[in-house]
Amino acid sequence: MASPRIIMKLTVTAARKEPGDVLVIDLKHPRKPVLPAFEAGSHVDVHLPEGKVRQYSLCGDPTELGRYTIAVKRENDGRGGSAWIHETIAVGSTLPVSAPRNHFALKPGEGPTLLLAGGIGITPILAMARALARQAKPFELHYFTRGRALTPLLEVIEDDLPGGNVRIHFDDEPQTRQNIAALLANRSDDAQTYYCGPPGFMAVVGRAAQHWPEGTVHFETFQPPEFDGAPPEPFVIELAEGRVVEVSAETTALAALRAAGVPLMASCENGVCGTCECAMLAGQPIHRDAVLSKEARGHRFIPCVSRATGVLKLDL
Ligand code: FES
Repeated sequence: MASPRIIMKLTVTAARKEPGDVLVIDLKHPRKPVLPAFEAGSHVDVHLPEGKVRQYSLCGDPTELGRYTIAVKRENDGRGGSAWIHETIAVGSTLPVSAPRNHFALKPGEGPTLLLAGGIGITPILAMARALARQAKPFELHYFTRGRALTPLLEVIEDDLPGGNVRIHFDDEPQTRQNIAALLANRSDDAQTYYCGPPGFMAVVGRAAQHWPEGTVHFETFQPPEFDGAPPEPFVIELAEGRVVEVSAETTALAALRAAGVPLMASCENGVCGTCECAMLAGQPIHRDAVLSKEARGHRFIPCVSRATGVLKLDL
């Protein structure tokens, strides 16, 4: 995968409104026929005016090498990024977009895959369903939405995915409803599950999947994780060059590093997007993010939320 630090000025080649106040946007390079490759579950950073950066999952087909597709839900009580996109972006617009990165990758396995999406959480899940369908791997996609008239990407799902693998559950159509706990109650051998959606949905699925073995449940969240609430302690960051940066109890590692002149990109500043991720060389981190995998926690660090005990050495 190309470096996410690469920022490309892509052209909007299609923009269509979908139910649920969602704008689906196709992006192509103005000159190059091929974009950096992506895997199912990947997202891109979209760079907006005033230094805002927003993450959107790629919901198109990973084998289509010349086009990225994102779906932007307008969040009227959000931080303004989605509203700006809805009001400003049209066919012919230019959007600065990073190369894709993936914190929500499909793990190879022979067992069945259960894909669960709530609302706009369908975007990474749709790319996963496409990939599994292409590989002829067994999967089921369950899409939970409030109602047919509010459901984005319905036609795309019906047109592109094998019908037998897809179940759509509308809150306002009782005959389609599905109890999530019942769905996850019995795990078939080697099954894995992947889920993404709004906070309430994430909590319900998380509880229902508690009895699944470690490493078989994967999710991507839009919300910062909860932590124990213990008051933050000061710690020290040692940079690769040997310089030392003090992080007081009142600030974040990200803010302290920036104040010391270390240029770091950031977006959510909530530990959910991974934009500020950096390499860790040594130390005892206190991870408080929602993006790093268990394996990555041994050598990566998210300075907008995570802290440490004592001295933490970063490769910066
Ligand atoms: S800025 Fe989003 S995880 Fe740090």
